[in-house]
Amino acid sequence: MNQDALKALVGQAAVKYVEDGMILGLGTGSTVKYMVDALGKRVADEGLHIIGVATSDRTANQAESLGITIKNLDDVDHIDLTIDGADEIDDNFQGIKGGGAAHLWEKIVAINSTKNMWIVDESKLVHHLGQFPLPLEVIPFGSTHVLEKLDKMDLHPEFRMNADGQHVMTDSKNYIIDLHLGRIDHPHELANTLNGIVGVVEHGLFLDTVNTVIVGRPDGPEVLN
Ligand code: 5RP
Repeated sequence: MNQDALKALVGQAAVKYVEDGMILGLGTGSTVKYMVDALGKRVADEGLHIIGVATSDRTANQAESLGITIKNLDDVDHIDLTIDGADEIDDNFQGIKGGGAAHLWEKIVAINSTKNMWIVDESKLVHHLGQFPLPLEVIPFGSTHVLEKLDKMDLHPEFRMNADGQHVMTDSKNYIIDLHLGRIDHPHELANTLNGIVGVVEHGLFLDTVNTVIVGRPDGPEVLN
């Protein structure tokens, strides 16, 4: 079974947790895309009534094209469950997100959700975070100085650029800096440090956030709580 098939598997498994009337946070990424497809199918086939709060314009557009009602976070009073992907999940259920440049909205939606579920293929499970570059969303104004500061801190920063050599822009019109760390031994300390840097809007460390992880294995989805 290839990686895409595992992503589809967990996307389909996740929507079994969705109940009529729920307000759902909808993450971003290739795995979530399968989940939104499966959710759209349930809405169409079963007449399921749900409201989605999207973590990116991409996800909002996909969901609306499938007949899923999307509301702004500020127009709902709670979110029952958010289903999102992840780039790495360690043995303690801590994660890195933001490979799709959406971690700012994803984190805002996550902290306003009663429950958070991550759906991943098994390649995302690691013993230590950091092999995947840690994304930072930064304000464009003064961002080269932020990059220099991070470099002096030995955090190995690099602006994320697109194929045309332009800065990757987030939905909030900010830039992304990726930190090539190799291994993060103390994620909470690093998170505190990054929270203190002016110009960094949000980092991709998602600590103590997730309640349930569904892992795509060749022999079926595994649910970790
Ligand atoms: C987007 C994210 C994604 O959830 C993460 O990058 C995983 O993506 P994919 O399912 O495509 O592997 O954090 O900002």
